Amino acid sequence: MSFDRKIKIAPSILAADFANFGAECEAIEAQGADWVHVDVMDGHFVPNITFGPATCAAIRPHIKGVMDVHLMIAPVDSYIEAFAKAGADVITAHVEAGPHTHRTLQAIRAAGAKAGLALNPGTPASEVEYFLDMVDLICVMTVNPGFGGQKFIHSQIEKVKQLRAMIGDRPIHIEIDGGVDPITAPLVAQAGADVLVAGSAVFKGGSVSNPGPYGENIRNIRAAAEGVWA
Ligand code: DX5
Ligand code: ZN
Repeated sequence: MSFDRKIKIAPSILAADFANFGAECEAIEAQGADWVHVDVMDGHFVPNITFGPATCAAIRPHIKGVMDVHLMIAPVDSYIEAFAKAGADVITAHVEAGPHTHRTLQAIRAAGAKAGLALNPGTPASEVEYFLDMVDLICVMTVNPGFGGQKFIHSQIEKVKQLRAMIGDRPIHIEIDGGVDPITAPLVAQAGADVLVAGSAVFKGGSVSNPGPYGENIRNIRAAAEGVWA
């Protein structure tokens, strides 16, 4: 996984057909997705349950590129090894998931994955200050985690700007998760984000048997973020 700040579109399979993850991953990659974003929820840290490491391992062979695993679970440390073994390239844990974020980030890198740190909308940018040399990605939640299809929270744009300034030349991605569409994508791209997660805005109108809309949706988000409408 090489580092660059080009816009990367990461469809969230939370909005895919849960009975058909393998084919959905192949379809979004064929339609231009850069990363595949995988939302793991435990019904405890967030009020929704999705799936765990076995499902991640099952979909891994269907993903050629980056498998970006977003852990909305607490506790998190005891599951890191399992998600790394399942083939996650990036493992993102929440700073709010427990008191020992430093240890969590160490464990992710020790397991051989890139380390991501996610911030809920109410958590300030300053929370990452002492982790800047231990993270490969900072995920700014632009909705309250737990569900797809929610409204983008505009107050988070200022947080993205602050994080971009704090990061400086360090090779750290800024990822945006929640409510990303062609209207909100340029706002966060201008503020300094490079990885745009999008669930409903990518999967709407398409299916594995009709994947063309996935491609059109991805191109529209990318073009908007890059400042050129398709
Ligand atoms: C929310 C998840 C997101 C979600 C985004 O808890 O982390 O990845 O799928 O969905 P949209 O793009 O529909 O807001
Ligand atoms: Zn997510």
